[in-house]
Amino acid sequence: MTDHHHHGPGHDHNHGHDHGQMDDDAFAEMIDLDAEVLHEYLTGLFGWLHERSGGRTRRILDVGSGSGTGTLGLAGRFPEAEITAVDLSAPMLHRVRDKARALGVADRIHTRQADLDAGWPTLEPVDLVWASASLHHLADPDRVLTDILGTLRPGGLFAVVELASFPYFLPADLGLGRPGLEERCHALAGRDVPLLGADWGPRLRKAGFTVEAERRFDIALTPPLPEATGRYAQAVLSRLRSGLDDRLDPDDRATLDTLLSGDGMLSRTDLTVRTTRTVWLAVRP
Ligand SMILES: C[S@@+](CC[C@H](N)C(=O)[O-])C[C@H]1O[C@@H](n2cnc3c(N)ncnc32)[C@H](O)[C@@H]1O
Repeated sequence: MTDHHHHGPGHDHNHGHDHGQMDDDAFAEMIDLDAEVLHEYLTGLFGWLHERSGGRTRRILDVGSGSGTGTLGLAGRFPEAEITAVDLSAPMLHRVRDKARALGVADRIHTRQADLDAGWPTLEPVDLVWASASLHHLADPDRVLTDILGTLRPGGLFAVVELASFPYFLPADLGLGRPGLEERCHALAGRDVPLLGADWGPRLRKAGFTVEAERRFDIALTPPLPEATGRYAQAVLSRLRSGLDDRLDPDDRATLDTLLSGDGMLSRTDLTVRTTRTVWLAVRP
């Protein structure tokens, strides 16, 4: 495995992005829990991409790989492919490498640390690009879309996965505080990330892609839920709590504190998981 990037001192992983107050470990844990809880949808999505790719996929690029959900998932679905994970965060890429070793695919996984806001790294042409929940972090995503187009071979596929918000877990009326707590938290948090919930179809076309398909996955998981669900709910709501802090209505803050204290989400039996993921499948003509 390789990591070609040399980054200077004082590199701040969170600079202006929506990680809020969370440290890398907590953020990585949250996105790993996302993959664990939503694995059925992800397996279906990787399978769909495999079908659409027509079996010519030798090189894959994961843009904003985070801890490697896409990189490792695609490594499983495309056993012949070499995959490069690009991310701003060195600790995230460290996790990708650890997982690759644990899964016995380290020889096919490369990592490249790069701040895509600063420029596009030099990369070999690829057959498939995956960007999940990463484009909304970028300062100039349209420029990056053009760079992605330039890195894809003609006929190559680009899968953009985006979300309008993190999942909802709680019943609307908790019997505690004012109903609609989660909606209010998500609405406030959404203001920090204007590209959350954006329509990527027109942007992809403007960059020169042909958009072949747009698929919306409406996920609604109900009990019995995997054990990780409580930990995922605890992580997401804690992130909202710390990111919003004094912007939250004091009553809502107090309610959230009560809900989260003592890892309170872990023992709840009334959780569900409601979220939407949209996938745009584009092709370089
Ligand atoms: C929400 S995470 C998604 C991770 C992963 N793709 C997934 O689906 O689990 C967004 C990732 O984008 C990365 N990122 C944000 N801004 C970036 C930038 N300017 N350059 C490179 N990566 C960036 C973050 O470090 C983070 O790992």
